[in-house]
Amino acid sequence: MPEALVIVEDLHKSFLHMGRRLDVLRGIDLNIHAGQILAIVGASGAGKSTLLHCIGTLDLPSTGRIRLGGEELTTMSSSRLAAVRNRSIGFVFQFHHLLPEFNALENVMLPGMIQGRPRKELERRAQALLEEVRYDEDGNPVTSNLADYGMISAAELPSFEVVHMETPTFLNPLGAKGIGESGTIGSTPAVQSAVVDAVSHLGVRHIDMPATAEKVWRAIRDAG
Ligand SMILES: Nc1ncnc2c1ncn2[C@@H]1O[C@H](COP(=O)(O)OP(=O)(O)OP(=O)(O)O)[C@@H](O)[C@H]1O
Ligand SMILES: [Mg+2]
Repeated sequence: MPEALVIVEDLHKSFLHMGRRLDVLRGIDLNIHAGQILAIVGASGAGKSTLLHCIGTLDLPSTGRIRLGGEELTTMSSSRLAAVRNRSIGFVFQFHHLLPEFNALENVMLPGMIQGRPRKELERRAQALLEEVRYDEDGNPVTSNLADYGMISAAELPSFEVVHMETPTFLNPLGAKGIGESGTIGSTPAVQSAVVDAVSHLGVRHIDMPATAEKVWRAIRDAG
């Protein structure tokens, strides 16, 4: 079996609180393998968040070792830690922690923007996860405003000439076929496929875009 993705050894964490030492983590040993889904359960105040903060590099343990992907985290420089955090660790906090200066899509795009990746590329990936317009039975949009949709502005669109090209087909009532945007770009379907792959071992074969948390949860529930 390959080395575990996360290896925690003899982890201790103490806080000084009003002059008293509070020993929250007392010798935690934990191995987490790639692809493993793990829940840490315990009473409020037991130290779950403290452990996750240490593994997630948001806080340093008092003593002990944490290896992630073969690298020791507890002795790493802060700039190297920032890079590891940016590329290798995802956080879902108890509260949103969204940055109000950025729209919903940009909040998802931020780690990639920090890496200097092309904005359009990130936008298309974020769209696969978030962007949705809902309609009622009569075809009226029920998405309340454009902020929900996270629409890009016209000024950001490149200018190009539209070529009107139809290919005849007998397979649909219009008698013509064309291609939607998702057929012409790679990143949106790549993200969508990655999400389906990640839960395929649970029997999920398809999730409609966008792959929001609710849709992924429903797909897992319906497959089970
Ligand atoms: N920065 C801190 N300074 C002092 N004490 C702290 C600090 N952070 C956490 N604690 C204490 O450490 C203990 C564990 O806290 P922690 O937040 O890890 O618990 P938890 O298991 O995540 O609880 P919950 O289920 O309520 O989220 C608590 O007694 C808490 O008061
Ligand atoms: Mg907690």
